[in-house]
Amino acid sequence: MQNRWDSLKDHHAAVEGRSILGLFNDADRAARFSVSKDGLLFDYSKTNIDDRGRDLLIALAAASAVDEKRDAMFSGAKINETEGRAVLHTALRNLSSSVIVDGAEVMPEVRATYARMQDFVRQVQSGAYSGQGGKITDVLNIGIGGSDLGPAMAAIALSPYAIGPRVHFVSNVDGAHIADVLSGLNPDTTLVIVASKTFTTIETMTNAETAKRWMSVKVSDPASQFAAVSTAADKTKAFGIAPERVFGFEDWVGGRYSMWGPIGLSLMLSIGPDHFAEFLRGGAAMDDHFRSAPFDQNIPVLLALVGIWHNQICGHATRAVLPYDQRLLRLPAYLQQLEMESNGKRVDMAGNDLPYHSGPVVWGEPGTNGQHAFYQLIHQGTRVVPCEFLVARTGHEKELQHQHVLLVSNCLAQSEALMRGRSLAEATAILAKKGVTGAELERQARHRVFPGNRPSTTLAYETLTPFVLGQIIALYEHRVFVEGVILGINSYDQWGVELGKELALALQPVLEGKAAADDKDGSTQLLAKWFKG
Ligand code: F6P
Repeated sequence: MQNRWDSLKDHHAAVEGRSILGLFNDADRAARFSVSKDGLLFDYSKTNIDDRGRDLLIALAAASAVDEKRDAMFSGAKINETEGRAVLHTALRNLSSSVIVDGAEVMPEVRATYARMQDFVRQVQSGAYSGQGGKITDVLNIGIGGSDLGPAMAAIALSPYAIGPRVHFVSNVDGAHIADVLSGLNPDTTLVIVASKTFTTIETMTNAETAKRWMSVKVSDPASQFAAVSTAADKTKAFGIAPERVFGFEDWVGGRYSMWGPIGLSLMLSIGPDHFAEFLRGGAAMDDHFRSAPFDQNIPVLLALVGIWHNQICGHATRAVLPYDQRLLRLPAYLQQLEMESNGKRVDMAGNDLPYHSGPVVWGEPGTNGQHAFYQLIHQGTRVVPCEFLVARTGHEKELQHQHVLLVSNCLAQSEALMRGRSLAEATAILAKKGVTGAELERQARHRVFPGNRPSTTLAYETLTPFVLGQIIALYEHRVFVEGVILGINSYDQWGVELGKELALALQPVLEGKAAADDKDGSTQLLAKWFKG
């Protein structure tokens, strides 16, 4: 395996610095370094990957047994080895499939819960289930991380399909979050969903108690306006939520992969069961593609290989996700958890230190907003940031098509500008034309140079429908899986979040004046003392 990494590094050393634009002397490059499938167009031609680079990357994927491990994941093998769990979020969107875990078929239970969700959503939307004050007007989802980011991101992304009550999301333990959201809601007609895989997460449970107190001021039986989504039936019962409004799932659905099942209840309440089913269909279509397409035509595999090339081979530590689609506003935050919690690891499956860097820092904002904020650094900063653009062919606002054309022009212009750059000679000529001369011309021109040769990919789709969103999210999930397999890490645990949780629990009594901070370092003691006043 080391040889394959070395071959890639050698190849990179040989081609580093060459002009990406120059690669388009091959008139077929764009066609040969892009894939069209099921309405998606994935273009990775504006990277420094050439035929040999792609062959080497694909050979690395093959040698890492990506296909075998993919099949193992889909079949229910316990590939999350440090937690002894299967990884089966794909089963939530392939409802007619058959999946065996620990010798038992799990799909009847998945289908039964899905049917109960549909039924409950229809009852809420029709008013058959109501609050003390009548029909439910608002749904408040209380959850954090994977129990928040997916449905919160998707509810915005699919707002043109909203047919149900308004949905709101509270995640932060900062009381400001829940206070601000509750101030706009009526307890009489609000349904609260407590979404927590473990039902122990301190932020969620604290906010849930706050919501219960808020509701009890006006509603005689507050628990009757609560639903729960969790793997911990005993704990939802202890919280007082009736079993008919508890939607369970199994530990083989990772938190950040869970929006396809009960954690998606708030999304289903917003867009309705039919659109939610379309979302699942989109995810399932991506699963089919991932399982059947050869690697050189396989969008998740190629997206992962571009990621490996930019991060582990070229050494670019971050990647920017830049949706030219305002409703994908929360996609970068969603992907931060999906990618960084999954692949931000430091040891391989066997516990050995990784010989290369693990996952990159993922960040981003929608275009064109980002252009007027951080694109300066992307174009002229000293670090290279590989960019991943997303853009729809058509928006929902048909009457504003001229704005959509402007949006797409900007998206395409950015990837072109990043690649093309502007030389000193070009910058000088532009300034000279404006009448700048002499030393001033020389000085000014240097500030107007764009080094160019900065790589990007573009994922284009028809319109941001539920089906397309399903495709996009499943695409990124599989990208994370492939990168994780190649890096030899477990993408499905998250031990790195534990230490901070433990220390916060120990600090709480210190800040409350109930315990001393003697065992703390000087800085923590200083800060604790300051906060105690
Ligand atoms: O602390 C990290 C984490 O465990 C995430 O992996 C998870 O999505 C989030 O917390 C919320 O967990 P839960 O759904 O159990 O409340």
